Amino acid sequence: MKLRYSFIFLLFLSSVDLYAQRSIQTLKEGWQFCKGDAFEESCSQRVRVPHDWAIYGPFNRKHDLQVVAVEQNGEKEATVKTGRTGGLPFIGKGVYRTAFHLTDTARRSVTLVFDGVMSHPRVKLNGKEVAYWPYGYNSFYVNVDGVALPGENRLEVSCENKEGQSRWYPGAGIYRNVHVVSTHRVHIPVWGTYVTTPEVSEAFASVRLDVQVAGAAREQQVQVSTVVMDADGRQVARSEGSLCARGQAYTQSFLIQQPRLWSPDTPHLYTARTTLKVDGVVVDSYDTRFGVRSIAYVPEKGFFLNGKATKFKGVCNHHDLGPLGAAVNRSALRHQIELLKDMGANAIRTAHNMPAPELVELCDELGMMLMIEPFDDWGFCPKSPNGYGAVFHEWAERDMDHMVRHYRNSPSVVMWSVGNEVPSQWGTPGMDELMRLRRVVRELDSTRPITCGMDQIGAVLGNGFAAALDIPGFNYKPQHYDKAYKALPQKLILGSETASTVSSRGQYFFPVRFADHQVVLHPGNQSNSYDNESCSWSNVPDLDFARDDDHPWVIGQFVWTGFDYLGEPSPYDTDAWPSHSSVFGIIDLASLPKDRYYLYRAQWNRQSLTLHVLPHWNWKGREGEITPVFVYTSYPKAELFINGKSQGMREKNDSTMYNRYRLMWMDTRYEPGEVKVVAYDKQGRKTEEKVVRTAGKAHHLVLSSNRRQLMADGEELAYVTVQVADRQGNLVPTDTRAVRFTVSGEGQFEATANGDPTSLRSFQQPEMDLFAGAATVVVRSGKSPGHLTLKVTARGVLPAELTLPVK
Ligand code: GAL
Repeated sequence: MKLRYSFIFLLFLSSVDLYAQRSIQTLKEGWQFCKGDAFEESCSQRVRVPHDWAIYGPFNRKHDLQVVAVEQNGEKEATVKTGRTGGLPFIGKGVYRTAFHLTDTARRSVTLVFDGVMSHPRVKLNGKEVAYWPYGYNSFYVNVDGVALPGENRLEVSCENKEGQSRWYPGAGIYRNVHVVSTHRVHIPVWGTYVTTPEVSEAFASVRLDVQVAGAAREQQVQVSTVVMDADGRQVARSEGSLCARGQAYTQSFLIQQPRLWSPDTPHLYTARTTLKVDGVVVDSYDTRFGVRSIAYVPEKGFFLNGKATKFKGVCNHHDLGPLGAAVNRSALRHQIELLKDMGANAIRTAHNMPAPELVELCDELGMMLMIEPFDDWGFCPKSPNGYGAVFHEWAERDMDHMVRHYRNSPSVVMWSVGNEVPSQWGTPGMDELMRLRRVVRELDSTRPITCGMDQIGAVLGNGFAAALDIPGFNYKPQHYDKAYKALPQKLILGSETASTVSSRGQYFFPVRFADHQVVLHPGNQSNSYDNESCSWSNVPDLDFARDDDHPWVIGQFVWTGFDYLGEPSPYDTDAWPSHSSVFGIIDLASLPKDRYYLYRAQWNRQSLTLHVLPHWNWKGREGEITPVFVYTSYPKAELFINGKSQGMREKNDSTMYNRYRLMWMDTRYEPGEVKVVAYDKQGRKTEEKVVRTAGKAHHLVLSSNRRQLMADGEELAYVTVQVADRQGNLVPTDTRAVRFTVSGEGQFEATANGDPTSLRSFQQPEMDLFAGAATVVVRSGKSPGHLTLKVTARGVLPAELTLPVK
C-alpha cells in the first residue's frame, strides 16, 4: 500500500457502510519536542515532523568522538576518529508529543505506522506504552485497538541515540513520517498485499495478488474484488471472489494484454485496487501499486531486465540529505534521483539501512533500480559497539520481515542485500546468521535474489559464505573478480561497492599523479578534483569501468557514493577536525556535481553526450607551470587549444586504464586566457566544443534553480545554486566570499551548504561562504499560491534575485 501524505477518505457511492472509510492521517504539524528524557512543557519546542534534532548543530569535535581501529580499512591500532559521525549533537534522548483526533473507534481498527524513528523509539498512546522498535532505520506499526479513543488521542514518542552506535551520521528523532490508519474492523492490514508477475512478455503478463484480510471472524465470508488499472486509470483486468476467512491470504490472478513494461527508461506503473465487502457492503478499499517487469540473473551472461542485458550503473547512498540532515523530504530525494539519472545511473543501493518509503516510491515513479540493504552489523563482532549488533539476535528476523513486506511490491527493487561487510563473513558463527536472514527473505519473496557486500574475499571464497548468496557482491575487489568468478558457483559477480575515489569539488592539487590504493593528504583537508586519489582499500573509477566493460558476468557496480554524506571524512578521519563529512561523493554535500560526475556521465549516459573540461583556468601564480587538462567525454577524441595554440589531439586508447576513459594532457602549462576543447566523433567529424576562460574580477551574483515553480504544499524545495561571475559573465571558480539569503512571499529559507567537508557554518543560518565559487540555498514553498522571492547579497558584488511561482 502506498500511504498517501494527507488526510484521505475513500468513500464509495453504492452499498457503503458508513464505517468503511479508510482514513490516513499523516502527523506533520503541531508536535512538541523536548531534548532529554522527560517531557516538560516549559522546555518544549514546536516542531514539524519529519524532524532531525541534531542537524541544527552546532558542530563540535567532541560529539561522538570515537577511539577505534577501523579494521575494514586495515587499521591495527585504535586512534581518535574525529567527525566520524558528522560532529553533530545526535547523541542523547528526546521526547515528542502530539495529539490526533478520531471520530469513532467502536467498529474501527486503528494502526499507527512509523516510517522510521532514530532510534530505540518507545511509543505511548493515551499514557500506555504500545510499541518499541530498536532499529532506527526500519518502519514499524502497531495496532492500537482498545487504546485509541474517540475524540482526542495523546501520542508520545521517546527515543535515544547512543555513543558508538554508527559509522556515519544517523540523524536524531522522528526523522520520517508518522501515520494514523483507521479502517473498518474487517480490512487489509499494513503491507497486506503481495503482487508478483510470474509471466512477462511484450504480448501479455500474468499477475498474482495475495490479499491478507484482518479482523474477519473465523469462516466469515468476505468478498474480495480487485480492479487492475494502468497509469491513466483505465481498467486492464479484474477479478472477484469470496474468501472464507481462516487467517489465510486470498490469491487472485490476472492477465494483462500488451503490458507497458517497467524499466528505468519507462517507469510504467499499474494499480490494483482491492475492495472488501461483507454481506454485500463495502468495508475497505486498498491500492497496491506495482510494475510489470521481468528480471533474470543468468550465469556467465549477466543481468537481464525485460530480456535485455543490463549493467548496474549504480551508486550507494547513505540516507542523510546534506544540510537537511536525516529529515526526509520527497522533493529533496527527487532532486537526488534526477541528478543521478542525468548522470546515467540506473540503480541505488540503500547503504547500509532500510530507506525511507518516499525513496522507494520515487524510484518506482522515476525509474531507478534498487538494492535494499538492511544492516551494517550482525550479531557477530559488530563494527559499532552500540549499533545493530546489540539487538541483532533478538530482532533480526522481525527487521527483515518488515523490510521485505514493506517493499516487495515495488518494481524498482531488483535484489535484497542482507548486510554490508559484516565480520560474520569470517566463518562460524556468521554462517548461521546468514542462514537466518536468508530464510526470512526466501519465505517472503522468492522473486528477487539475495546478495551481501563482502570485503573479506580471502575468507568468503572458501568458507561457504559467498556461495550461499544468489549474487556474490564484492566491495573494492575488482582486481580479484576473475578469481572469484572461477571459484564460485553462481558465475556472476557484482561490484556491490566500488571506487571510493576521494575528491573535493573544485579543489586541484599539483603535481597530478595517479595514486590508487594510497592515502594522499593535502593542506586544508581536501582531496584532488583531478579524480586521481582514493584510499588504501579503494581505487579510481576507471578500474571498475574496465571490469564492467570487459566481462558480461560482471553485472555492474554500486559506486561509493553518489552523494557526499555527513560523517566518515576519510582520508581526513583521524584527529583531523574540522573534517566531518565525506569526500567520496560524486556529488557534494550541497548537491553540486564534482568533476567526477562527468567522468561517470561520459561512460553511463548514452542518451545525452558529455564534454567536460577540468581544471578551472584561474591560476594566478602558476603562470608557466605544468597544469594538466583532463577532458571527460563520450566522444572518442578531442583536440585541446590554449589561447588558440593546439596542445595536440588525444584519443581514448587501451595503453593504460586511465587513457581508456579520460583524455589527458599531462604537460600543459598555465597561462591566463582560454582553454578550448574540440571533440570529434567516431567518423572523425568535429562535433562539439567547450571553452573555459580565466575569469576576471568578481562583479555580480548568479542564481540558478532546479525548479521553475513550486507546489503550494509547504513541502516542495528548490535547490538554488549561487555563484559569482565577472562583468562578462565568466564564473569565478575560486571565490569564497560570504553570501546572505532573504526569502519573502510564499515560502521560506530552509537550509544552505557549500560542499566544503571542513565547513563549520550552520546549515540553518541564512548565510554561507562560497566554496570553489559556489554554494546552495534550499528554499521551501509555502502553503498558499503566490510567489516566492529569494534575494542573495554579498559584499563587493551586485546582488541577485530569483522569483518562483508557487502554485
Ligand atoms: C566500505 C564500507 C562503507 C564505507 C566505505 C568507505 O568498506 O562498506 O560503509 O565505509 O568503505 O570507503
